[in-house]
Amino acid sequence: MNLDLSGQVALVPGGSGGIGSAVASALAEAGADLAITYRRNRTRAEAVAERARAWGRRVRVSEVDMADRLAAAQWVDESVAELGRVDMLASCLGYDGTFRLFAELPPEEWQHMMAQQFWAPVNACHAVIRHMVPQKSGRIIALGSDGAKVGQSGMALGNAANAGIMGFAKSLARELARHAITVNVVCAGPTEGPTLDALRSSGDTGAKLVDAAIRTIPMKRLGAAEELAAAFVFLASTQGGYITGQAISVSGGLTMS
Ligand SMILES: NC(=O)c1ccc[n+]([C@@H]2O[C@H](COP(=O)([O-])OP(=O)(O)OC[C@H]3O[C@@H](n4cnc5c(N)ncnc54)[C@H](OP(=O)(O)O)[C@@H]3O)[C@@H](O)[C@H]2O)c1
Repeated sequence: MNLDLSGQVALVPGGSGGIGSAVASALAEAGADLAITYRRNRTRAEAVAERARAWGRRVRVSEVDMADRLAAAQWVDESVAELGRVDMLASCLGYDGTFRLFAELPPEEWQHMMAQQFWAPVNACHAVIRHMVPQKSGRIIALGSDGAKVGQSGMALGNAANAGIMGFAKSLARELARHAITVNVVCAGPTEGPTLDALRSSGDTGAKLVDAAIRTIPMKRLGAAEELAAAFVFLASTQGGYITGQAISVSGGLTMS
């Protein structure tokens, strides 16, 4: 089994996230050079970069609003120019808000949520495809959610965005297969990390939501970000080259479709 990504270049928008930082680290550990973005969490992005540089990787860290299409395209172009190529896009972008019932979510927040969870990854894909099509190779892997498959209270629009990303990825997979570019989604279930830590510490209701989530998972535990990251590495590797158009759940059996 060859999961070696040496000499390859991975673009990881959202590499500062709870899951994204694990994904970026795993890709670097497997050998890839990195370009990662952050919005608010520069410290976590720099920690990923420091670890990757210690492994001898080249790393580019940039503050980018990926919801801004032109800024996203500029980041992709500059990263490819500096690192020399792009082999994979591992989009780990997500919403920075908390769980709220849709009836209580102000309309201003609707746009923000869709911008972060739908338009930002779409922008990243659009920019990277322009490099991958002429080279006739590439891997596009987007972080998604099992919530988009089965529904989830408090995240109606976030999961609408994630369901949109699944439909987008499957359609893109059909368009790009002839160029030897694969497109897949890795769907998370409830995963240990800062997002669930914040929910737990938000009070009794938050802690109960996490406990309730664990009860619904057949394996009766939360996922680890490293378990999601392993799926990204596999899909990016030579071994993952014949998998496209899939929404693969890494969620302890939460969904089985
Ligand atoms: N964690 C879970 O339990 C779980 C479960 C199911 C599905 N998911 C899916 O996974 C996603 C990520 O989860 P997570 O726990 O890793 O969340 P997170 O820690 O909040 O990570 C979100 C990432 O997106 C970045 N980001 C957001 N808007 C951006 C923008 N406009 N431009 C550039 N970067 C932007 C954030 O940057 P900064 O932090 O630097 O601002 C951060 O790197 C969720 O939104 C959801 O779709 C997560």
